[in-house]
Amino acid sequence: MYYIGISAYYHESSVFLTDNKGTSCFLKKESFTRIKGDKNFPHRCLKFLINTFDLKDENIKFISFYEKPFKSWWEIFYYSIKNPWQNKDFLIHHLKNFNNGSIFFYTDIRKIIDISRNKIIYSSHHLSHCLYGLSVVKNISDYVYITCDGVGEGETMSIYTIDNKYKIKKIWTNFYPNSIGLFYSTITDFLGFEINEGEFKVMSLSSFGKPTYKNQLKEVFNINDFKINMDYFAFHKNLSKSFSKKLINILGDPYLNINLDENLKKYADIASSAQVILEETMENLVKKAIQMSGKKKIVLTGGVALNCKMIHNLSKLNIFEELIVPPSPGDSGSAIGASNFAYLNENKDKTLNLNSIFLGPKKEIINKKNNKNDLFLKINLTDEFITEAANKLIDGEIITSYYGLTEVGPRSLGNTSIFCDAKNKNSVSNLNINIKKREHFQPLAPILLEEDFQKYFSINSSIVKNLEWMGTLCDANKELYKNYSSIIHVDGTCRTQIIKDEHSITYKLLKELKKQGSEILVNTSFNISKDPVVFDLFDVYVNMRRLNIKFVLMDDGFYQTKDI
Ligand SMILES: [Fe+2]
Repeated sequence: MYYIGISAYYHESSVFLTDNKGTSCFLKKESFTRIKGDKNFPHRCLKFLINTFDLKDENIKFISFYEKPFKSWWEIFYYSIKNPWQNKDFLIHHLKNFNNGSIFFYTDIRKIIDISRNKIIYSSHHLSHCLYGLSVVKNISDYVYITCDGVGEGETMSIYTIDNKYKIKKIWTNFYPNSIGLFYSTITDFLGFEINEGEFKVMSLSSFGKPTYKNQLKEVFNINDFKINMDYFAFHKNLSKSFSKKLINILGDPYLNINLDENLKKYADIASSAQVILEETMENLVKKAIQMSGKKKIVLTGGVALNCKMIHNLSKLNIFEELIVPPSPGDSGSAIGASNFAYLNENKDKTLNLNSIFLGPKKEIINKKNNKNDLFLKINLTDEFITEAANKLIDGEIITSYYGLTEVGPRSLGNTSIFCDAKNKNSVSNLNINIKKREHFQPLAPILLEEDFQKYFSINSSIVKNLEWMGTLCDANKELYKNYSSIIHVDGTCRTQIIKDEHSITYKLLKELKKQGSEILVNTSFNISKDPVVFDLFDVYVNMRRLNIKFVLMDDGFYQTKDI
């Protein structure tokens, strides 16, 4: 029997299916529609699952939605009607969108599959985050579970515990609009970056600045009691702007051209100040969770947990024994949490254990109808095709990877990546500036074998687990500066990924690379800026042509794009 979780309507829409007997399939709607962050109901993901797993009413145990639709709608509405005239545009929009949201989830499901109503169940927003976190750790009662995001069902921060009988208890909550996530998103908007995408840019930019606006921003968000000062914001009443004139009064003009040096310096200082506010808030939240639960092991979920600089800096305070951020802590990963809610609903004393960054689907399932040979030419001259790919990397080529199961979460973790030799400064620069066209202040991420990690990097052992999926930063050692300086961020950190699985192609590729004198690859997501990561072979072909990359390493060989 299958347990299916769905996250949709507000952030990137996703679906997860499992039977907890080894079958798992995580899909994002954006993979099918090619619209990054597509949040609409995931019809095509469900159709894919129906075709692949022959889904019908009889073999589905539950379909679980990641939150309670009416509660989610009502909580924002309820806040807005406290000041109906001030918030009237927002209110009218909210009322008009009643019909377009998750309230009609069951109707949307029935358009795709004929399923009994009693098989549709609803988790709650923060509980889904928490239940995804539960699925990535063993000894679940050893941990306290913190969720921190923009807002979900009117909640912005939650702390949960779970006992050995699988009883989950919410022990503390903070409520909308008091949201450190919305505070950080507002700064993202202020600096001219896109909300839900640009937060990573703010984090990178912060390393170039000094927190000169920290005291002013402490008036905007109180790091001690987690209260927001709404005088500085407009997201509760304005559909196109998240901040008010009062924020402009303390930070100056918004949306300046960041390519001018004087603006870059100023905006880096604002980003640095916002980052400090975020980090000090999270420090206090973690301390509160430890104090309330008596547990010093933490699982952190919610979109805020994607701020890996914050994770790294928190670890330096030595206030916890362990902190784990699962690979997809945002709303997309909550599809997995929702399926865990369904599983727990049925089994009562068991939860899913999904300690993997690759939750599918397999590339051959995705490409049932695509013929690889129509688009690509196999070019390896021997069976040692991974060695031949390593040779190309050493020669300075940039290559892509497309093998194994698909990654869960926002980052390409080797199976669907673009690689270059991190030792080769020209390749690194070409990849960052000409191919990926990233902002000059955004660093590229390194990937290496676990056995080589300590030679080049340092990290507090409490967060080391997160290195398997780029969930944290770590510090560069002197050895890294000798040959790999082009991948080190201005603050001496890297968003490193380690590879442990000896059977994976990425592991074998790194081993071959090592034999030829380089131990680190640059690993960046296999997409064009503002597009989703590639999904099927056709996406691979089109993206490679557009990016002007010739070579792709697949499960069964090393290929080159054909001229068609
Ligand atoms: Fe959330």
